[in-house]
Amino acid sequence: MDFRKCTVYQIYPKSFRDSNGDGLGDLKGVTQKLDYIKELGADYIWLTPFFVSPQKDNGYDVEDYYNIDPRYGTMEDFEELAREADKRGIRLMLDMVFNHTSSRHEWFQKALAGDEKYKNYYIFRKGKAPGVPPTNWVSKFGGNAWEYVPEFDEYYLHLFDVSQPDLNWDNPEVRREVQKVVRFWMQKGVKGFRFDVINLISKEKFADDEEGDGRRFYTDGPRIHEYLRELNEESFGQDADIITVGEMSSTTMENCFRYAGSQSHELSMVFSFHHLKVDFMGNEKWVLVPFDFAKLKKILFDWQQGMAEHDAWNAVFWCNHDQPRVVSRFGNTETYWKESAKMLATVIHCLRGTPYVYQGEEIGMTNVDFTKIGQFKDVESLNYYQILQDKGLSASDALRIIQIHSRDNGRTPMQWTGGENGGFTEGTPWIGVNKNAERINAESELQDPDSIFHYYQKLIRLRKEYDVIAYGDITPVDQGNPSVFAYRRSWQDENLLAVCNFYGKPVTWTCPEDIKGYARILGNYPEAEVKETMELRPYEALVLYRKG
Ligand code: GLC
Repeated sequence: MDFRKCTVYQIYPKSFRDSNGDGLGDLKGVTQKLDYIKELGADYIWLTPFFVSPQKDNGYDVEDYYNIDPRYGTMEDFEELAREADKRGIRLMLDMVFNHTSSRHEWFQKALAGDEKYKNYYIFRKGKAPGVPPTNWVSKFGGNAWEYVPEFDEYYLHLFDVSQPDLNWDNPEVRREVQKVVRFWMQKGVKGFRFDVINLISKEKFADDEEGDGRRFYTDGPRIHEYLRELNEESFGQDADIITVGEMSSTTMENCFRYAGSQSHELSMVFSFHHLKVDFMGNEKWVLVPFDFAKLKKILFDWQQGMAEHDAWNAVFWCNHDQPRVVSRFGNTETYWKESAKMLATVIHCLRGTPYVYQGEEIGMTNVDFTKIGQFKDVESLNYYQILQDKGLSASDALRIIQIHSRDNGRTPMQWTGGENGGFTEGTPWIGVNKNAERINAESELQDPDSIFHYYQKLIRLRKEYDVIAYGDITPVDQGNPSVFAYRRSWQDENLLAVCNFYGKPVTWTCPEDIKGYARILGNYPEAEVKETMELRPYEALVLYRKG
């Protein structure tokens, strides 16, 4: 399967479908819904971690890479899922969390017991002075990134939660352990891997960062390319059928040319996040600012063109389990819910790259409707609720920021039906179901031929049918326009124009390109006239195609 023609569907198993009524989604629940994913047309399912874990970070704190957390099911359930997916031509992509383990992992427990071999699996350092951590680095989840261990009078590094100690990749034994894990899952028939925050594994030096939070000392570090090539060679690279995607935190394009270059033998593609920071203030996420449309376009186009010029491949996406829902973020959940959800889908799915659809995105799921902090579960949100108040914000202002930016926005249960708990569970869901499940749910989307679901289905199909979408070059069109997101794709004698009104007001738009010969192959309004000057309706999206 050529991954340039494929679409990946991301599942957060905990919130996808609960098959046994305990309120948590599970692997059997995923198996039950394979026909739904088949219907959508996705080629791969990326499953976020379901390994044994204390679930401090919902499974991104792995205690045992070789076994399935009983909350999600058994190895037999996994094998059944793999078989059933295979019958439908769907491949599985697993999520490998190798920058850190859970503090409950056997390796870390042995390290804490003083076993030198295992201490060297992690990053322990002396403090700068009594009570002063080795560096001033800030954890991604807030607070200093070092935790003191009195028994050793040393600190260990945790770029994420204190329960997620960083692994020491400079130790070849750690690298061998990690390769072994990948090979284990390859033997189970897994055909894809997503590597969690993989560009953080090579730390440059342990020094105070006078200019920032420390990220420049551990992001895209000095040995990262070497480590990825080695992992490739020793594991997934041995099967040409396997696709890989690296989650690249605060990365640079120059590094991504190498991570995902067609000749670099590292990964098939990368996730980068710069385009999703356009509603931040610099790197500061916990603020309320409107999104910057000009910046959004610039970042996406720069990456699209840069990666194309260097023969490197992007994953393209709006949503995942760490992001708010895109229709709430850049669209309109009131008057133009359907139109804006389809428009946003158009922008992503006609780009150069492999599109990722996150569960619920294809039915236009929105941000949470939580009104109390007690309803939130995410460790990052709860930490920052406190940090914001420590900085002087009132509880209600802090809550407002959490409501907009919390990762829980993407983690409420999948809305299958308009019935109780949105058809996610017969029990009590681990996190609240959005009340709008009555209106926004898969059942009604499947019945409506004009639904968001069916629009995604068409976009996924178009990528298979039109080579220009999979292989074409990309050129921004009218980039300076304050409300239109437009670009041209071209490949051999094929041309495609994606024209999207990103806002809820009609605009008169004159196409700077020669529009002759183009015909509409998809749009989010029943019909549209294709001409040089067009009246684009609120959130209107047009996909135009010309051959020859
Ligand atoms: C990635 C995951 C996120 C997790 C973090 C630490 O960013 O997507 O959910 O919390 O890594 O593993």
